[in-house]
Amino acid sequence: MSYDNIFDASYKRVLETGTDGTDFFETFYQHFLDSSALISEQFLNTDMEKQRRMLKKSFYSLISFYASGAADNVLEKIAYKHSARELDIKPAFYDCWMDSLVATVHDYDPEFDNDVELAWRLVMSLGITYMKFKYDRC
Ligand code: HEM
Repeated sequence: MSYDNIFDASYKRVLETGTDGTDFFETFYQHFLDSSALISEQFLNTDMEKQRRMLKKSFYSLISFYASGAADNVLEKIAYKHSARELDIKPAFYDCWMDSLVATVHDYDPEFDNDVELAWRLVMSLGITYMKFKYDRC
C-alpha cells in the first residue's frame, strides 16, 4: 500500500475514535503544550477550544499541500501569522509540533506502526517545510 493510502486510512481511523469525549485535536494540544514550557507559555491566553477548531480546519490545507504541491490561501495566511512578523514561532518548534502529532496518532490509531508514523510525517512534511521557510520570508 502507498504511504498516501496508509495515511488516508489512519486519518479516517483517528477521527472515528475518541468516544470518551476527548477528541484527537484536544489530545494533540495536551501533548504539544506538555512538550515544552516555551511552547505552553505561548498559549497562556489562548481560547483552546477555538484553537482546536482552527487547527482542524488548517489540517485540510496541510494535507492538500501534499496532494496539490502548493499552499492554499489558508496556509499562506497561517504561515504569515506564525512568521517573525507576527507570532514569531521559531522553526525549531515545528519538530515538537510534528512529534506531538505522531504521539497523538499513536494514542488514537489502533493500527499504529512504523509505516503509519512515516506516512503522517511524509504527508505533513511539505506544509511544515513551507511554514518554516516562510518564517523570515513573509
Ligand atoms: C504546521 C503547524 C501549525 C499549524 C497548522 C498551526 C495552525 C494554527 C492556526 C490555524 C492558528 C490560528 C490562527 C488565527 O488565529 O488566525 C494558530 C495560532 C497559533 N499558533 Fe499555530 N500552527 C502550527 C504550528 C505552531 C507552532 C509550532 C507553534 C509554536 C508554539 C504555534 C503557536 C501558535 C500560537 C501561539 C498561536 C496563537 C494563539 C492565540 O491566538 O492565542 N503554532 N496556529
